[in-house]
Amino acid sequence: MINFLAFNPVKLHFGKGVVKELGSCANDLGKKALLVYGGGSVLRNGSYKDTLEQLKDQGIAITEFNGIKPNPRVEDVMEAARIGSEAGVDMVVAVGGGSVIDSAKIIAICIADNCDAWEVMTGKYAPASALPLIAVLTLAATGTEMNAVAVLQNGETREKIGYRNDLEYPAHSFLDPTYTQSVPADYTAYGIVDLVAHSLEAWFGSGDATLSDRIVISIIKEALEYGPELMNDLENYKLRAKIMWAATMALNNTTIYGRVSGDWGVHALGHVLSFLYDTPHGATLSIFYPAWMSLLKDRAGERIIQLGSELFGVDTVDETIASFASYFKSLGSPVRCQEAGIEETTKADILELMNRNRAEGLNYPLSDKEREKLVEYIF
Ligand code: NZQ
Ligand code: ZN
Repeated sequence: MINFLAFNPVKLHFGKGVVKELGSCANDLGKKALLVYGGGSVLRNGSYKDTLEQLKDQGIAITEFNGIKPNPRVEDVMEAARIGSEAGVDMVVAVGGGSVIDSAKIIAICIADNCDAWEVMTGKYAPASALPLIAVLTLAATGTEMNAVAVLQNGETREKIGYRNDLEYPAHSFLDPTYTQSVPADYTAYGIVDLVAHSLEAWFGSGDATLSDRIVISIIKEALEYGPELMNDLENYKLRAKIMWAATMALNNTTIYGRVSGDWGVHALGHVLSFLYDTPHGATLSIFYPAWMSLLKDRAGERIIQLGSELFGVDTVDETIASFASYFKSLGSPVRCQEAGIEETTKADILELMNRNRAEGLNYPLSDKEREKLVEYIF
């Protein structure tokens, strides 16, 4: 086990009706809020109305920015930051899924630090401050509500990348599983895949951290047991709550303590598909994980078998890969590009961008030749 610092400053409010606590928390942070949301789902599931009421009751002035897209774009972040700066806001309130909250994290930095979002994302500029951020989560998937990461894409540089900085931790996150009851079947499935994938990224990181390993296994077991039940009963509060908490735990640092890092190769590969075809994040992961494990049969064989034995009671690499693939399929998430509407004729484009962006993991770097093989495996 390597040395580590355990740190997570997010005040996470979990459960039915917790948004009632938002107003007083916001009042402690500021007087003028930039309220950020996406394409309108929050207007239908009550989360927007509840948040707005809380802010208004405290006399907090509100400026709105909506229209954040899934696979969020840097230009929307810059525009939101411009509007927020002009209005002189002193905090950011995000209502939505990972795309909205990730965008809000960078908006909060750009307003406070008057800087360029892509320079921040690429590490060219090191910001010194961020406005306080309140997140109201409406989709269980990314873990962004309790971590310090944001993922954005840039059409000009042809990249979708993540950026981590302690400044990005939300001050408060409100997780009411009720808001997630309206998430449709496809995005519910992608969210479950995402939480499994985050656990796997930690599992395939380097370093000996047995407790973190056991936490990973427990989180994936929650998804294996309750994910399929939820897919058959989308409005079940109890199941929504279990999946929501599992998704938070899958990427709030807990699974990384004692390791050097996670791997994150499958995420980097998946981002290429999201960039090129606007494929939902979770769908890119269910496509790439079985393919990536097949590619790494020799290099990561023992770790793959250990997973298979703990999770599925199987004892070979092939059976483990088949078990994951059939699990992802059972949820309704694609395991081949064709199932996500991506045609075979696109192989060369995918490979070109994968190589150009050097999509690979921290623990298992990939050669161009291996990426070429991967492109064959995902069709
Ligand atoms: O735009 P609206 O109308 O809000 O609709 C959204 C969107 O179409 C909808 N939705 C959200 N909550 C809903 C709902 N529909 C009905 N009822 C609700 N309660 O769902 C769609 C997808 O939303 P999005 O926010 O894009 O999904 P998700 O939460 O999966 O976020 C994905 C983004 O997060 C990044 C991904 O790369 C992707 O860009 N990630 C962020 C991470 C992080 N910050 O730590 C880590 C992850 O690995 C991931 O990379
Ligand atoms: Zn993810």
